[in-house]
This record gives sequence, C-alpha cells and structure tokens, in this order.
Amino acid sequence: MIDIDKIRLDFPILGREVHGRPLVYLDNGATAQKPASVIERINLMYSELNANVHRGVHFLSQECTTLYEAARENVRRLIGAESREEVIFTAGATASLNLVAHSFGRQALRAGDNVIVSQMEHHSNIVPWQLACEMTGATIRTLPFDEQGALEMDKLPELIDNRTKIIAITQASNVLGTRPELRRIIDMAHAHGACVVVDGCQGIVHGGVNVSELGCDFYAFSAHKLYGPTGVGALYGKRELLERMPPFMGGGDMVDTVEMERSTYAELPLKFEAGTANFVGAIGLSEAIDYLRRLEPSEIEAHERLLLARATERLTAIPGVRIYGTTPDKCAIVSFNVEGVHHYDIGMILDKLGVAIRTGTHCASPTMARYGVEGMCRASFALYNTEDEVDALIDAIEKAIRMLRR
Ligand SMILES: Cc1ncc(COP(=O)(O)O)c(C=O)c1O
Repeated sequence: MIDIDKIRLDFPILGREVHGRPLVYLDNGATAQKPASVIERINLMYSELNANVHRGVHFLSQECTTLYEAARENVRRLIGAESREEVIFTAGATASLNLVAHSFGRQALRAGDNVIVSQMEHHSNIVPWQLACEMTGATIRTLPFDEQGALEMDKLPELIDNRTKIIAITQASNVLGTRPELRRIIDMAHAHGACVVVDGCQGIVHGGVNVSELGCDFYAFSAHKLYGPTGVGALYGKRELLERMPPFMGGGDMVDTVEMERSTYAELPLKFEAGTANFVGAIGLSEAIDYLRRLEPSEIEAHERLLLARATERLTAIPGVRIYGTTPDKCAIVSFNVEGVHHYDIGMILDKLGVAIRTGTHCASPTMARYGVEGMCRASFALYNTEDEVDALIDAIEKAIRMLRR
C-alpha cells in the first residue's frame, strides 16, 4: 500500500508553515511540489556538472550532453514514443503548443480550412490556434461541453469536415477534471485527414499516457506539473510530421550549415531546439520521472480518487456550493463556487488558514463563460495530499463562508 507519510517526507516544502499554520498545498494543477531528489539533482548539476550541451569537446560538456540525451530517452519511455527523435525539449507545454501551431499549423492551414478546439481548453491550447488562423485565413470551430462538463461528442460529426486540419484537445481539463474521449476524437480526425494535438499537462500527471497506443499526432506537457522543474517541458510529434515541418525558431544547435543568405537545418530533434537548451531542467525532469517510477501508478491513482471522492462528498454537503465538472471518470481536480461569495475572498481566507487553492479563471476563460461565472475556486490534488488535508480544506471553506456571510 502507498505510504503517504513516507512520500511526504520526500517533499521538503510540505514541512513548512504559512501564516503560522501547516501548509496545505492544493494548487497542484498550477504547479506541483518537487521531491528532494529533483532538487538535489539540480543542485548537483550547477555545483559539479554545469557545461553547455552539444557544443564542447571537453569533459563537462560531454557529461552534460550524455545526461541531457539520457533525459530525452527517459521522456520517450515515459510517454511511449517510438523514437527519441520524436521528443523535443521545450520551455513547457505553452512553448510546445506554440511550436506546433506556428510550424505545423502555418504549414498545414490555408484560407477556408478550420481548426476544431474544445471549449474546455487552457488558453495555451486556444490562443496559439487563433494566431495560426489569423495568419492563414483558417477559422476556429468550437467543440462545446455540457453542464456536467462532458464534451458534446455528438456535435463533432457536425463540426468536422474535409477542411478540418487540426483538432486541439486536452487530455484532462485543468478546471473540470474531464477526460475527453481521445481515442474516438483521434479516430474521427484521422478519418477526415486531420491531425490531433493533445494538451497533456494534467493528463500526464493523472494517469499518464502512451502516445503510440493513443495514436495522437502531437502531445505537449510541462515538467513542473509532474514534480519536475519549471521552464522545461516536451513536445512529442510523429516523426513523419516533424520531419516535414519547418523550424519554429532559428539559432544555435538547430542548424547544420549556415551561410549569410541561407542555412540548412539539423536533424530531429535538434531542428526544433534552437539556442542553449534548458539541459538542467530536462535532467531535473528525468529525475522526477525516476522518482515516479519508484511508486506504483495504480496506487497513486487510487489514492487520488479517494481524495477527490472525499472532497466532492464533503463540498456537496455544504449549502450553496456548486461544483463544476462532474463526469464520472474525472481526474483529481475540483472546481467550485459558493453562492453569494466571491471566489477571491474564499481563496484569501483559505490562505490565511494555511490552505493554498487557486482562484480566478484558471487560464480557461471560455470554460468560465460557459457557466456564466467570472472565476472559480479550485482544489487540485497530488500524490502527497492526505485525507486530513481534504478535511482541512472543507473546515477552512466552512469558516470562510461563516465569516463572509456574517
Ligand atoms: C491543461 C493545461 N494546459 C496548458 C497549461 C500551460 O502550462 P505551462 O504554463 O506550464 O506552459 C496548463 C497550466 O496550467 C494546463 O493546466
């Protein structure tokens, strides 16, 4: 059985207090805390190993390059890609999605084409497609979701046609926890000759992925939500697509030859990694992956399901609380509002009680608009959270409501 007390000791920050109270960190959907092994690895990189990758003949550069490429292989294994050339290191999911939109999107889209984007996407999987459409004359078509937070899959056949070039879809909504039926969407897209770009930011943490089995064309995620460092992430792309795509950014490392008027480009994956890579970040991510491999995924999932069920049950029992996103197989994220109380006020009072939740739009304004609200409170759980912390959350919410309704 998963030993949460032991796991918590691996995460130094969980031992701290805020406002004189033990920290209850429930903002994991925004960023997760880091185990000591990741922190130590980053420390070691800067204290003993630091040198630029792919550039030096000297010992440290060679050593860093070996570790960086080993990190790539580790990510390949994590996501089940066929080859390491299909794994591009980026600055994070946002950078990955922009890379696809600007390189693949601008190449694939023409005036009159369309991109189907689900209504529950994070801004990072909406705005890059708007930019690509503005530049090409293509248009966005929105795949809506219903009151429960389930995608309205019966609308997809009405939206998709032979001018659909891309479907942009999340693996799990960062607000609603909804896990769209990716396989069905991918099959339908491929039957129409369209590619599917999956935002794996939340999905990779809650359940993981095998991109080869899934059959998606692109997959993006950030390390910092997966217990790794900030400023690094990855893009998976099918090799034949990446090979046909033009580079997104130009600079060092992504070229083969450079003359004053023209250049030729490096092979995959470096074609898409212009400039000094965040090699320390990538190596830190690899360490986070190793940390997770020492745990049993089914136990983590069961634990997170338990936390979600307890939070949902207890929140539902509070008069005036509305939960957004109630699909049966949702991941461990619960967004809610309290009637007559502003979400920011709840968040501020919870903070004073040591409970960190997220408030606002969660970078998903169309999701807020769907429910006609300005914002929501969100508690998002990680493998190190406990049932006691769920109870602390509920107690704090009840206290906040008492104070605010006084
Ligand atoms: C579903 C989803 N997509 C994309 C992002 C953007 O990730 P990043 O800011 O790490 O690029 C987030 C971050 O909250 C997210 O939750």
